[in-house]
Amino acid sequence: SNKPRTTIVIFGATGDLAKRKLFPSIYNLYKKGQLSEEFAVVGVARRPWTNETIRDTVRQSLQGNDHAAEELEEFCSHFYYHPFDVTSKSSYHELNELLTRLESNYHIPGNRIFYMAMAPEFFGTIAVNLKTEGLTDTAGWTRLVIEKPFGRDYPSAYELNEEIRQAFDEDQIYRIDHYLGKEMVQNIEVIRFANAIFEPLWNNRYISNIQITSSETLGVEDRGGYYETSGALRDMVQNHMLQMVSLLAMDPPIRLTTNEIRSEKIKVLRALRPVTGDKVHKYFVRGQYGPGTVNGKEVDGYRNEDKVDPQSHTETFVAGKLLIDNHRWAGVPFYIRTGKRMGIKSTKIVVQFKELPMNLYFDKNDVMHPNLLIIHIQPDEGISLVLNGKKIGPTGETIPVQLDYSNDSVDGVNTPEAYERLLYDCMLGDATNFAHWDELELSWKYVDAISKVWETLPAQFPNYPSGSMGPEESDRLLSADGFHWWPLDTGK
Ligand code: BG6
Repeated sequence: SNKPRTTIVIFGATGDLAKRKLFPSIYNLYKKGQLSEEFAVVGVARRPWTNETIRDTVRQSLQGNDHAAEELEEFCSHFYYHPFDVTSKSSYHELNELLTRLESNYHIPGNRIFYMAMAPEFFGTIAVNLKTEGLTDTAGWTRLVIEKPFGRDYPSAYELNEEIRQAFDEDQIYRIDHYLGKEMVQNIEVIRFANAIFEPLWNNRYISNIQITSSETLGVEDRGGYYETSGALRDMVQNHMLQMVSLLAMDPPIRLTTNEIRSEKIKVLRALRPVTGDKVHKYFVRGQYGPGTVNGKEVDGYRNEDKVDPQSHTETFVAGKLLIDNHRWAGVPFYIRTGKRMGIKSTKIVVQFKELPMNLYFDKNDVMHPNLLIIHIQPDEGISLVLNGKKIGPTGETIPVQLDYSNDSVDGVNTPEAYERLLYDCMLGDATNFAHWDELELSWKYVDAISKVWETLPAQFPNYPSGSMGPEESDRLLSADGFHWWPLDTGK
């Protein structure tokens, strides 16, 4: 069925993620009729909330949505709350009883999604207890959804994975990377593999470099505690940036199945040239924001943020040059950059094509412009193709012309849509847009080699003002190769 009956158990239901993303996503699924009418959501967390508290929170989280009052009340009536102690066996037994009761009330055949949206140190304990206390022993299917961070390096990720695997098989584990739920990230595959005009050019004979930027205007907000143990490399590169690299670089899958797609992505990560030792400073740039002005507002530097060490060496910006040692990509740099408190909120991919071997056509400055394919991921969603055309009139001058396609659904930033899609995929048992353990292993090993070198050598921080596009070294990374970052308003 495309509306499987399920209970969703949210661990950490009193937290920010549940309120900002999960409740609105479940509501959207409900409204679009993608959720069976027979569903139940059980929030668990330490706080002594009641069914009424969680239903109030759900109502608050939906403010601004237009909905009929009865519809909202009907929706909220499916939410339950159970106070929970992750280390106490009786908590699990009580939860199991509640789930069994709800399953019988709502005619749910024992399908359970366990969603881990709380402090990561409990992920393993909970997973193991769910099994030993019998909560995974049902007549239906059980699945585990895990939020980031999945470890903070390879050894801790490995340990966590081993623990979880005691209780759940790989195909029951859904590791969230919310970038994989974004419309235009999912579109990368379609643009590449459903168009005869791109795939033949998608290699080192025609592409000179690929640039992937994910810049944010926000600082660390109230997540200083977590961020101090993480930094931009672990927070954004290990997962979201490397996922985008994989999707851009993978070979066409032979079939649209989870395993076939994943195995092509994994091959890309295996072909990534490790950056170790001296090469780290040559290929990777780190930054930390100082005070500055973002969107006309003066803001503090990172070291003044709440729960941040005033001497902190945590990076809030990373730029890197990645090389993929395979037949398709040998010699083509993939440049990535991501940072907080930058001048603009934008996630964008620019594919720059090589110049023609012999060219007779130039613009008024005697320049020949490279062709660009730009994939706009957020906040605007679409594709632009930058070409050269003839300037109208008697001269032979070229001018850049641009073909734009814009997605109709301009969703704004940070909408619940990515989560909505991922939750739905999980209900259907489709793990394609979740990270496989093999991807985690390879990506953690890749970033570990970099952080290991960084840790031995403190950086000169802060090194970029809030509101800028990061430290100057980030520009040098490209200029050393004869390239430059395309401005983020190119193609708009
Ligand atoms: C999260 C990071 O995974 O992604 C955050 O932990 C970051 O630090 C966020 O702000 C960015 O997501 P988006 O969807 O706003 O690009």
